[in-house]
Amino acid sequence: MATIGTDILRAKAFLEAGDLVAIPTETVYGLAANALDAQAVAKIFEAKNRPEFDPLIVHTHSLDAAHDFVSDFHPDLLKLAEAFWPGPLTLLLPRQDKIPDLTTSGLSRVGVRIPAHLLTLSLLRELAFPLAAPSANPFGYISPTQASHVQKQLGNKLSYILDGGPSEIGLESTIVGEENNRLVIYRLGGLSVDDIESVVGNVSIQLNQSSNPKAPGQLKSHYAPRKPLFVGNIETLANQHRDHKVAFLIFGEQPAWIEPGFMVKNLSPTQNYKEAAANLFAYLRDLDESDAEVILCDLLPGMGLGLAINDRLRRAAG
Ligand code: TXA
Ligand code: MG
Repeated sequence: MATIGTDILRAKAFLEAGDLVAIPTETVYGLAANALDAQAVAKIFEAKNRPEFDPLIVHTHSLDAAHDFVSDFHPDLLKLAEAFWPGPLTLLLPRQDKIPDLTTSGLSRVGVRIPAHLLTLSLLRELAFPLAAPSANPFGYISPTQASHVQKQLGNKLSYILDGGPSEIGLESTIVGEENNRLVIYRLGGLSVDDIESVVGNVSIQLNQSSNPKAPGQLKSHYAPRKPLFVGNIETLANQHRDHKVAFLIFGEQPAWIEPGFMVKNLSPTQNYKEAAANLFAYLRDLDESDAEVILCDLLPGMGLGLAINDRLRRAAG
């Protein structure tokens, strides 16, 4: 099992030795290694059982530090960086040669993010290199939002888990890049489309659903629990699954027809999207670990963070 603690210098020593350390961020916990060291990065793919065509996000502490491994910033992407970093935004930017091919899966762009988490920012400032870090879960499973989630699933595969408490946002970063001078959102996430458009105007959204995606966060089945999960009108779903022990993931007031004795997790009784995002992955884990056979989920109204939450729920349903 990994050691769980808050010792930045210990985390630093492991990372300098080429080992893996889990890091807290405001979105989800990351499984980090030296982004400039291909051998260290290879350990991430192995630990997660992640296909090597799936590139990693590189985390750094400042725009200045990003300029050390990015070759060019499109002016609109720079505007977004200035408006939202540190924060739940990943930018796809042309990379310098010092970023190994394995980190970007051979792509010419590198995903870059400054996370908004004090402990991880302090760690990044202590290091002479940026950190490659995917979410710290086995490939395809629900992302971790607490140190204990990481310990449970990957604890035997890494040295140290830096414990920064529960992730405040709870959804992965929104991924944005530029094609033909137009900004494109490739993954919905913790920064809403509205927030992005308030700074750079209209952007297009390309959430691929193929089996050969540009970003596996775009894979149709992803973020998935082990139990069958269905999304839609939960009353209809409950009728369809009356022969099974069902559990409900709901948003807003609990419907009266759900009888006592059912397992129910409420993302936000007051319909607060931020609260729902922060609860989403932990609740999915709880339901996955419960004795229910099937998980039935409400979709949220498709606005603000509701869009990203629905995206995760649909992918969890596969
Ligand atoms: O919030 C987050 O983004 C978290 C925390 C730890 O920072 N990280 C995260 O990483 O969600 P991961 O690896 O689970 O998802 C990153 C997504 C992947 O689907 C990957 O394909 C895409 O970002 N990605 C990374 N670099 C890319 C690149 N150069 N081109 C296209 N897609 C890229
Ligand atoms: Mg992930």
